[in-house]
Amino acid sequence: MKTSFSLCAFALVLFAAAVFASTQTSKQTAPNSSSSSGQSQVKRGKYLVEEVARCSECHTPRDAQGNLDNSRALQGAPVWIVPVHPDHNWAQQAPPLAGFAAYTDSDGEAILENGRGPNGEVIRPPMHIYHLNHEDAVAIIAYLKSVPASTR
Ligand code: HEC
Repeated sequence: MKTSFSLCAFALVLFAAAVFASTQTSKQTAPNSSSSSGQSQVKRGKYLVEEVARCSECHTPRDAQGNLDNSRALQGAPVWIVPVHPDHNWAQQAPPLAGFAAYTDSDGEAILENGRGPNGEVIRPPMHIYHLNHEDAVAIIAYLKSVPASTR
């Protein structure tokens, strides 16, 4: 009787320890898992910006040789692409994207998902009219926010 009681007490202690350990782990993993998903979103945004949509081709200024000046990545640039046929709607400047402070998230989503600017206007060429899915737009916005804005 005494043995079964102490066995039972031992099992209870083990159970309590297991419950305690599991609450500790869930406390520890919750913030980590959300920040690592934030990090993977930024990583995906970087890939989309740099390798898929190539936003830098227009939004990063170039040096005298015409190479992208990555020390001023995504800090806005004069448009260097010229239309084959004259187009009065052709934009002359690609605005800065680094830090994305000039736009709200919903501006960014409208621009990247619908090709509409913050006031509902159609974005001018040579900027593409993107119809990105929401997750990709959100990832791009997260990445652009992480790029340091100009300090000059
Ligand atoms: C082929 C050149 C080009 C590429 C590539 C490009 N842009 Fe642009 N972008 C422009 C130009 C030019 C403008 C200015 C358009 C205007 O004045 O209507 C612009 C405007 C913008 C604006 C401001 C829109 C507004 O109405 O205020 C945002 C934000 C933007 N681009 C983000 C991006 C992102 C993000 C990417 C990549 C996913 C990208 N652009 C790729 C040329 C480009």
